Formats: sequence, structure tokens, C-alpha cells
Amino acid sequence: MKGAFVTVEGCEGSGKSTQIRLLAEKLQRDGVDFIVTREPGGSDVAEQIRTIILDGKNTSMCDECEALLYAAARVQHLREIVQPALSQGKLVICDRYVDSSLAYQGAARGLGYEYIEDINSFALKEFSPNLTIFLNISPKAAFERKHGADKDDRIEALGLEFHEKVYRGYLGLLDKYPRICAVECGGSKWETNDKIYQLLKDKGIIG
Ligand SMILES: Nc1ncnc2c1ncn2[C@@H]1O[C@H](COP(=O)(O)OP(=O)(O)O)[C@@H](O)[C@H]1O
Ligand SMILES: [Mg+2]
Repeated sequence: MKGAFVTVEGCEGSGKSTQIRLLAEKLQRDGVDFIVTREPGGSDVAEQIRTIILDGKNTSMCDECEALLYAAARVQHLREIVQPALSQGKLVICDRYVDSSLAYQGAARGLGYEYIEDINSFALKEFSPNLTIFLNISPKAAFERKHGADKDDRIEALGLEFHEKVYRGYLGLLDKYPRICAVECGGSKWETNDKIYQLLKDKGIIG
């Protein structure tokens, strides 16, 4: 593998899309050969799998089935999009990857890290990112940022509770996986972006 694989993780509203967009502008300016992707990332097969996962009619889908389908879509995206770009020496920046399954299906849905690790390492053959950036902000703070004007009244207790579980699920991964670096992102999007850019430099991902 010649390129580098960087994934970006965090709760809803933590700023993943915003940060990836700002980072892409800088990388373009610097002449870095990179792609930005997200699962299912324009892979037809992965897209079809995702349609099954998200289909509101599939109310009987069990958590294990959901986790396995995510792993199947992930490996398809890896083979079709990520690995070809890496073998061309590109930097691949991916919005969410296996840690989302660990936090959402493993921690929040309660399947446990081990179950998710097992099925994903079976599917992905231990293929792991060179660096994972975790945008560290509590779901409540992220929510308030997003809906600043009408905070409090539209948070369903259950919804927030679920997202708190996701957040704790992410925090639990930090000690387990040294590839994951937490970036505090309570400041402005520009401050956060400077931190991310510096991190990529410190890790030798960009020159
Ligand atoms: N540092 C920041 N400060 C204030 N608002 C932000 C910041 N970063 C992102 N936002 C805003 O928060 C919302 C969620 O950001 P987004 O990038 O869509 O998050 P995600 O992709 O992680 O769900 C957007 O409305 C975005 O403009
Ligand atoms: Mg997003």
C-alpha cells in the first residue's frame, strides 16, 4: 500500500462534513493527491446493501443482521473505492468507517465491541486506517450548536440518550486503538481545522 487511509469519526453534528470540506480545500491548495469518500461511496453494490439497511419496511431486521450488512457494504466500498485509490498512492479521507459500527451497533445498540470487531476483521482482513480522527464534542453540545435557536425543546430524551451511548462508545475506543486521535472541537471550525491539519503533519500523512 502506497497511499494513506484516514477516517473521520464523531457523533451526529460533530462537524465531520464541515471539517472534511475545509481539509479538502487545504489539500487541494497544497497539491496533495487525495480523494474524499464515505460509505457506500458510490459503489453500486454497497449502495444497494445500504438501501436494505435503511428501508423503513424492514422493521424485523435484527441488530446482528444490520451489523453484518454494514460490514458487507464496508468491504465492498473498501475493495471498489478505497484500495484502488491507495494503490495509486492517493490519500483517502473517509467520512466514517469501522469505528462507527463499534460505537453505534457495538456500544449504543448493545452488541458489544467484540462482536463488531469479529465480523469486521473477518470481512476486512484487519485492514485498518493509518489514522482515525475523532471529533470530540458531546452530543448535547453538538446538538445545541446545530439548533442553537430552539435548543432543549426538540431533543427527545430517548434520542439524546442514544447519542450519549454512541459518544461513550467512541470514548471507549480511544484507549483500545492508538490509531484514533481525539481532536477537541468545541472551538470554531477554523480552529478545529488547524488542529486536524497539524495532526496530519505530525503523523507524517502530509509533508
Ligand atoms: N466548530 C463549529 N462551530 C460551530 N458550528 C459548527 C462547527 N462545525 C460545524 N458546525 C455546524 O454544525 C452543524 C453540523 O456539522 P456537520 O459538519 O454537518 O456535522 P456531521 O457531518 O459530523 O454530522 C453544521 O450546521 C455546521 O455548519
Ligand atoms: Mg456529515
